[in-house]
Order: sequence, then C-alpha cells, then structure tokens
Amino acid sequence: MCGIVGILGSKPVANDLVEALRRLEYRGYDSAGIATVQAGQLARRRAEGKLTNLANRLSDEPLGGLSGIGHTRWATHGKPTEDNAHPHMNDHVSVVHNGIIENFGELRDELIEAGHTFQSETDTETIVHLVTHYMNTGLQPEEAVKAALGRLKGAFALGIIFANHDDLMIAARQGSPLAIGHGDGEMYLGSDAIALAPFTTALTYLGEGDWAAITRNETRIYNREGERVERPKVTSVASALTIDKGNHRHFMHKEIHEQPEVISHTLTNYIDMANHQVDFPELGLDLAAIDRVTLSACGTAYYAGLVAKYWIERYARLPVQIDVASEMRYREAPLPANGLAVFISQSGETADTLATLRYCRDQGQTIASIVNVRTSTIARESDAILPTLAGPEIGVASTKAFTCQLAALACLTLALARARNTISKEEEREIIAALTEVPRHIATMLRSEPHYTDIAYELSKAKDVLYLGRGINFPLAMEGALKLKEISYIHAEGYAAGELKHGPIALIDEKMPVVVVAPKDALFEKTISNMQEVAARGGQMILISDASPDEAGCPLMQHIQTPQAHPFVMPLIQAVPVQLLAYHTAVQMGTDVDQPRNLAKSVTVE
Ligand code: M6R
Repeated sequence: MCGIVGILGSKPVANDLVEALRRLEYRGYDSAGIATVQAGQLARRRAEGKLTNLANRLSDEPLGGLSGIGHTRWATHGKPTEDNAHPHMNDHVSVVHNGIIENFGELRDELIEAGHTFQSETDTETIVHLVTHYMNTGLQPEEAVKAALGRLKGAFALGIIFANHDDLMIAARQGSPLAIGHGDGEMYLGSDAIALAPFTTALTYLGEGDWAAITRNETRIYNREGERVERPKVTSVASALTIDKGNHRHFMHKEIHEQPEVISHTLTNYIDMANHQVDFPELGLDLAAIDRVTLSACGTAYYAGLVAKYWIERYARLPVQIDVASEMRYREAPLPANGLAVFISQSGETADTLATLRYCRDQGQTIASIVNVRTSTIARESDAILPTLAGPEIGVASTKAFTCQLAALACLTLALARARNTISKEEEREIIAALTEVPRHIATMLRSEPHYTDIAYELSKAKDVLYLGRGINFPLAMEGALKLKEISYIHAEGYAAGELKHGPIALIDEKMPVVVVAPKDALFEKTISNMQEVAARGGQMILISDASPDEAGCPLMQHIQTPQAHPFVMPLIQAVPVQLLAYHTAVQMGTDVDQPRNLAKSVTVE
C-alpha cells in the first residue's frame, strides 16, 4: 500500500515524479522520496511525513536527471523515518517497492554475511543488495534482477533504476498492481492509472509474476517462467484533472455531500426508471441458477456486504455466507457448485480481498465484483463487474463509496429475487420507488448538519463509544464505530443490540455515550427494550431514527431525526448520520481527517 512511480523522460523528471506521487498519496503518507540518474550517478531526496515535506526538500536541494523513480510510503518494516523512506539505493541500484518481502530476514543475513552493509530497517533494502550481489558476479542489470526476483518470496511491485543506465527501468509485479505507461518518446511506471493520467492514458498492466525491462523505445515483458510475453495496451479513463476539495474543508466532507448525486448515478446504472424495475447489464451470469452467495470484503466494504446478506437472504431467499477477506482467504471454506462469490472493494486493489477472490475462483465460483475503480485488479479478475459510480474517493474514511456499494448491492438483491421469483412485481416496484427517493432524503438530512456540531462536542469528550443496532442496522452500528475510531481516534465498538446483555453492558456508565441506530422497523420495539437497559444503568444515548424522541420512551442525550422511508432502504439513509457524527467529532478533536494516522486508502499488503 505504498505508491510507486517511474519515468524515463525527455526533460528533467523530478517535478513530474512528485506530481505523480501527489496522486498516489492516498496509498500512504508516512514518508516520500525520489531517485534519479543524474550524470550517470544515482541521486535521491527523501523526507519523513507528507509529500509536501519532500517537495520543500526538493525546492531547497533540486534534483536533475531525465530518468527516475519515486515512492510514497505506508510503513510495514521499520518506523516511518527518513532512513527507512524509499527509494533505497547504493551506488549501483535504486529500488522502490510496494508490498512485503516475506523472506527478507534470511536474505538479509546471507547478504550481511557476504559483506553488504544495510542502512535501513526495511525489507526493501534487501532487494538493492541482492541485485547488486548478482551484478557483482558479472551479470548485466536485467539478468541480475531476474536472478534476484527468483529469490524473493511475498508480494511486490518494484521499480528499479541503475547508475550509468539512463535509459533503463525495470518493473516487476507479484501480488501488487503495476502499470507501464506509454508516452511519446517517454515511458512511465505507476501503481495505478490515476498516477499516470497527467502523462499518458495508454497503459499496459503487468500480469501476475511478470517483470519488464523498459527503455524509451522498447518494452520487453517476461512472465514468471522467463518467457517473453505480450500484454495488451489499454486506454485508461482516469482523469488527469487535479482532484480538489471545492469549497469543503476536507475531502471527506465533500464526499459525504456528493452522496445524493453519486448514489443517483449508481442507481441509474442498474434501474430502468421508466418501468420501475432493475435492469442489469448483461453480466454473463445465470442468476436463477445460483444456489448460494459468498460475500467477502474488508473494512467498510465488508459492512456493505453484511447489509447485503440481510437483503439477499430476506428477499432472494438465498443462503449467504460472508467473512472478512483477511480471514476467509485462509479458512479453506468448502464452496458449493453453482455458487456466486461477490467481492466488494472501493479501490479494487485490497490484497486480502483479491486473495479471497482467487481462492473462490479456484473453488469454481462465479466471480462478481462491486468496485469503484473499473481498471483495478479485482475488476480485471472478475467474471462480472458491477461498478459503483462514486467517482474518486480521496478521504481515507470511506463514505460515498459505501453508500454506492449499498446501492449496487440493493439492485443485485432485486435482480436475484426477480430471477428466483421470490419477489412480486409490486414489491419490486415499491422498493425501486423507495431507492429512487434515497438521494432526496440524504440531501434533506445534509441540510441539518449544524445539529451535529453539538453532538460531536459531547462525543469528543468520550474515551469510548458504543454503537448499537439490530438486524440490518447492526452493520451500520459497526460502520459508525469504524468511522469514529479511524478519524477521531476515539475507541468505539459496534454491537448487536441484543448482545449487550451478554457482556458489553458491563461497560455502561454515565461517561459512555451509546449511539443507537434504530429506524422504526420490525425490530424497533426490541431495540427500545435494549435502550431501556442502557438507560437503567445511566448510559447516555444518541438515537438515530425516523421515530420521534418520545417513541424511545427513555431519556436521550441527543436525537438525530432521519426521514421516514421503506425499511429496505434505511441502511443507505442511516449511513449518513454515522458519517457526519464521526466527521464532526474528528473536526472537534483537530485530527487529520482525510489522512488519519497509521492508515492508507488502499491496502495492498496482507
Ligand atoms: O478499497 P477497499 O474498499 O477494498 O478498502 C477496504 C477497506 O480498507 C476500507 O473500507 C477501510 O476500512 C476504510 N478506511 C474505512 O473507512
């Protein structure tokens, strides 16, 4: 989950490397650095912290050179210090790396034994010395890299340059995404299409296990077996426009406010509005033949999947199993014939989700993915893609991608239910009508945003916060807790309201705010009983509901009124208050809302 970039240019590349890194900063922002071949010598600048620190360093100490590589880091091995920042290099070789070299310990010991001196705590530096070791035996750069790659275990995307080789860049991919960009007399390398969008839209994605020797005039790609292979050149649709915050203080705020529009776009992609029915694009899937659905994802995307489990089981009468991808990939779960496996991911690059997808594919499942980035690896490895049309999501905390995932999953549910005859035409019409009202409801809720500042003030004083929900609202409680902890750093947990009495109720006292997500649905009365239990122990409650405060029948610290809507669509509506609560609490706390500590937007390591 670091971002890497490389350029073989026709003019000095330092500024363009930084521009590309700016577009990759979502992948990590612990440190950044670039290295170039300057008059035949390798030279680099690195800086701890955000990319602006590197830009400042470069304006004080500029770097020349027509070819170079760059990196923005999310620390895995070694603290986020300048010494551990990439590129790692010696006088001969410079390397940027995204991923984890699992056998770096044994390689490092071997290389130290052979006389190499390490300057960092990273796994990446091993690659520098390993390639140098093979070059010292007389191998040319390409052969040396090939030999080194054969020794590496783990996941990596690599960019490598060499002293005295101004027209050579080597790229390698195993598990982590990497694209080669074709320019006019220039060549590029990047973790994704967005990084390269200002320079070129003509891309070649390296396949799993591929490595490539890139010069300004020729690109030679080899597969894991060392055979020369051709990979298709595709045109990227990533926009070269700089993505900005508009009038908003943070990207997260902008993205919360974009929800009415992007949910509408996503729904329009799957609904025949004139006939009030789901109109799925030709997916090449026989939805009627599916016996079981498996859902897997990570973080917020997992909670979207959990909502879908409730929908699909209730409306399509299909059994659904769901697990976080980091667990499912190693569970060796038996999967049935005629199974549909659905993977949900904003980035489409999450390593655990991708590994689980591959497991399910090997088990004969039909693979569908709900992704926001259509050129992503998860999209490319799926039998069918159900895109979300959320547009680029920059804030690390996922907001609009989540509600768009829900919109797409809602439509998938209806398509499955129709294919299986488990829903009547009237009920489908009713739900479609309710879905099309969601953007309007969200826009209404966003108008009452000032109310959240007071509530956020209360939450910002808490050390711990509990979120409760029942049934389909339980995933929303967990999503609310995740949002709060990741951007405000306040400890929060989401619980099934009925589970409270089995342990967590011991935590309740007058200092513990309890956020209850409880629309007036079939389980509302049950949740009210749980709220009474909290009230009896002095718990301070914030109720998010379309019910009035009186209907709660117990004292509330705060009440957030949501619009009344069909129970099916309530998860989309309830998502917005939990996002706003987290956002305004983080603003009160003065944290870095868009780039919270220790996190990265795209998690491409396991
Ligand atoms: O790109 P993905 O949707 O696969 O990412 C999955 C999670 O890493 C992501 O949802 C994460 O939990 C967010 N930071 C939550 O806001």
